[in-house]
Amino acid sequence: MPYYLGIDVGTTGCKALIINEEGSVVGKATFEYPLYTPRPGWSEQDPSDWWKACVNAVKAAIANARIKGDEIEGVGLTGQMHGLVVIDSEGRVIRPAILWNDQRTAKEAEFINSLIGREKLIELTGNIAHTGFTAPKILWLRNNEPENFAKVNKFMLPKDYIGYKLTGDVITDVNDASGTSLFDVRKRCWCYEIIDELGIPSRILPEVLESPGVRGELRSEVAKELGLKPGTPVAAGAGDQGAAGVGAGIVAEGLISVNIGTSGVVFAASDKFRYDPKGRLHAFCHAVPGKWHLMGVMLSAGGSLRWFRDSLGHLEKIVADLVGDDPYNILVKEAERIPAGAEGLLFLPYLAGERTPHADPYARGVIFGLSLKHSKGHIIRAILEGVAYGLRDSIELMKSIGISAHQIRVLGGGSRSRLWKQVIADVFGTEVTTMLVDEGSSYGAAILASVAAGAYRSVEEAVTCMVRTSSERIVPNMEKHRIYSRYYKVYRSLYVSLKELFKEVAKIVESPT
Ligand code: XUL
Repeated sequence: MPYYLGIDVGTTGCKALIINEEGSVVGKATFEYPLYTPRPGWSEQDPSDWWKACVNAVKAAIANARIKGDEIEGVGLTGQMHGLVVIDSEGRVIRPAILWNDQRTAKEAEFINSLIGREKLIELTGNIAHTGFTAPKILWLRNNEPENFAKVNKFMLPKDYIGYKLTGDVITDVNDASGTSLFDVRKRCWCYEIIDELGIPSRILPEVLESPGVRGELRSEVAKELGLKPGTPVAAGAGDQGAAGVGAGIVAEGLISVNIGTSGVVFAASDKFRYDPKGRLHAFCHAVPGKWHLMGVMLSAGGSLRWFRDSLGHLEKIVADLVGDDPYNILVKEAERIPAGAEGLLFLPYLAGERTPHADPYARGVIFGLSLKHSKGHIIRAILEGVAYGLRDSIELMKSIGISAHQIRVLGGGSRSRLWKQVIADVFGTEVTTMLVDEGSSYGAAILASVAAGAYRSVEEAVTCMVRTSSERIVPNMEKHRIYSRYYKVYRSLYVSLKELFKEVAKIVESPT
């Protein structure tokens, strides 16, 4: 029986996942690696750690699946986006990889935004240059480590380093390339107008393919090390969000997924290149040839509830330990008794600043409207609702550029809470469902591998044959939707009213005297 392997080079570890032709997961394994912060705000990893973890994860996943490695017909890659890996002419890594969440490049990002002009940059690349994106990192290297910059033969994104080790070819894909600020997202090719303007030598760019395209074949010595068949095709793959979109079947307009992990990602497919003229949503090439996707990113979705659990939920943790339950279940139970709207209590989930829609690092969390009648359960309910309002912000932006959904697919840790899913259905006024397989990006990468191996003619066909929603359908309560819509207006105004105060507070915190 043919199997397909997805490899996800994440921020905390490398996950290998094996699926069969029907899309069922037969084996998986994850190996972690360290993250280095040599200075405050810096975030780096050693690509050789990724490779070691990848080798271990692939071998363990094959053992876990109880299959023979030579039954794997295709490999697909995905991983953290935006990171910068640089190699010299001998193929050696020049310095540690600078990751997506590294903050050292604020100056370079601002330089790109003003040199090219925000409007033009959004029109060409679908996005403004964010601090975490790749082009600012390349400029940082040129400005701060000229001796390393002079040695650069090629740059790569994190998963492409694994691709390079597997096949020997330096390749990326259109979806991951979309997060570099150097890619013409409309035309799906490098944007030489920007590349030349920034003075980046075009010889350092990797070749770029569509995501299900074959980036190369497994080299024999590597195949032997991994226990796979030499010559196995390796798909170009996609960034973690694009691959997760494929894994959730978001490959056609009309479907939107909401992924509640630490962050909250709203992901929609688009049949044509659309972008938010203010750049509040990310607009990337999709991992599906001829399609694009839009994405809104909230920084603290599940992270808001985790904050509550860790700082105010000690009692629930103790109870959970005693009865052998998850503290989240106990916290959410307290919120179930509270009516929609938490009797006037609102929560702004900007605990770590916010990306979509405000792109504001100074924004902070707010509990608004507290009165004597409010209990802990009200605060928990307000957190669940506040996150849903934040997600609705992305949905509203998508609507404003012509993307809407008849169904929302909820993924990630947040999808385990029945109440949170109902709140999302009610806040959006849209039916919510969950997926039969919720394995995130590695699942999408394995699906891309099946297309690269020729088992399916297109990503859409593979998705039709492999991806299934669960039988769970959560129908919105339209009366609650009306209540939530009134509160949502207040939620929107709160940020506007507090925006300048957030900055003021940040100044005081920085220099209190
Ligand atoms: C996408 C993004 C994250 C990273 C790390 O724009 O910043 O998804 O890829 O997971």
